Amino acid sequence: MPAIRLAGLSRRFSPAAPPALDGVSLEVAQGEVFGIIGRSGAGKSTLIRCVNLLERPDSGTVEVLGERLDTLAEPALRQARRRIGMVFQHFNLHARRTAAENIAFPLEIAGIGRAEREARVRELLPLVGLEARRDAFPAQLSGGQKQRVGIARALASDPRILLCDEATSALDPETTGEILALIGELRRRLDLSVLLITHEMAVVKAVCDRVAVMEAGRIIEEGRVFEVFTRPQQDTTRRFVAEVIGHAVPPGTLARLPQPRPGEARRLVQVLFAGPHSTRAVVSEASRDWGLDMNIVSGRVDEIAGEPFGVMALAAYGPPEKLDGALAWMRGLGLDVQEIAP
Ligand SMILES: Nc1ncnc2c1ncn2[C@@H]1O[C@H](COP(=O)(O)OP(=O)(O)O)[C@@H](O)[C@H]1O
Ligand SMILES: [Mg+2]
Repeated sequence: MPAIRLAGLSRRFSPAAPPALDGVSLEVAQGEVFGIIGRSGAGKSTLIRCVNLLERPDSGTVEVLGERLDTLAEPALRQARRRIGMVFQHFNLHARRTAAENIAFPLEIAGIGRAEREARVRELLPLVGLEARRDAFPAQLSGGQKQRVGIARALASDPRILLCDEATSALDPETTGEILALIGELRRRLDLSVLLITHEMAVVKAVCDRVAVMEAGRIIEEGRVFEVFTRPQQDTTRRFVAEVIGHAVPPGTLARLPQPRPGEARRLVQVLFAGPHSTRAVVSEASRDWGLDMNIVSGRVDEIAGEPFGVMALAAYGPPEKLDGALAWMRGLGLDVQEIAP
C-alpha cells in the first residue's frame, strides 16, 4: 500500500481562471522522500494541501495509508490528520509561545493532558536538536531553529507522513542544507514517508528519491531523481536541472572557439551523462568512428544519490552529415544531448 495515492485531482478557484490542478495523479511509496518541483503558481501548494484536505479538490480521490480521506466527515478527518504532519515555509509559529509550547500546541488542541504533552515535548526536542532552546520565544530563534520547532510540532502526533511546503525556501543555503539533512535523518529514524514541494532543484537533489515536475496544474515529468537529472524529457525540467549543474559554457569561451575548416561544420553540444567512464568512451568513439575532431570545452562531475553524474560541453568539428550521425548515435546511447550553438 502506498503512503499517499492521489488520483485525478482537479481544482479550479474560479470559472474564469485556469485550473490550479488539472488531473494530477501520483503515488508516494512508504518510506520515500518524494519531491514536487515547479515554478510559482504551478499548483504545488494546492496539491500538497489536498493530501490532508486543507484544500478540497473539485474532483479526484485522496488516499493516505490505504484510507480514502476525501470522503471522510470532519471528526474522522481530524483523526486521520494526526497521521499527517505538515511543515510550512514561514514556520507559522505562535509568537507568544515558547518553542516547547509551540511544539505541544497540536497536542493541546487534541485535548491531551499536560503531563503527556510535556513528556512528548521532552522526546521531540532532542530529535530536532533544540534541548537548549525549549523556553525561547520565536523572536529569539534563528530561521533554522524556528523551522526545527515547526518540524517538531509536525511530529508531535507521531505521524507516518510528513508534508513539507517549501520548508527551506525562507532559509539561507547553509541552513537549508541542515534542515534537509534533518528531514532525511528523521525519515530514516522514524520511518516517515515525505512529500516535499520546492521551486529549487538543489533541494530535490539533496534529499529526494523521486521527483515530479509540475507546470500549470499538471505533472509533466516524473521519475527517480537520478534519471530525471541525467535524462530530462521536458524543457522545463532541463531548466531546473541547469540550475544545479550550471550552464556549460561561459560566453567568452564560446567566442574563442575556432571556426570550422571549409567544407566542415561545428556543433557545440551539452551532454548530460551518468558515470565518469561513459564520457571518455563517447568522446573517443565519436572522434574515431565518425572521424570528428572533438574538443571538451567544459566538464563537471557531481553525485546524486551516490551515483556519479556529469555535464560536459563538447565542440565537434567535421562534415555536417557525420556530425548529425554522431549526435544521433550519442542520443541513441541514452545520453541527453542538447545543441547549445552551431
Ligand atoms: N485560495 C485561492 N484562491 C484563489 N486562487 C488561488 C488560491 N490558492 C491558489 N490559487 C491560485 O492557484 C494557482 C496555483 O497556486 P499554488 O498552488 O499556490 O501554486 P504554487 O504553490 O505552485 O506556487 C495560482 O494561480 C494561484 O493564484
Ligand atoms: Mg506554494
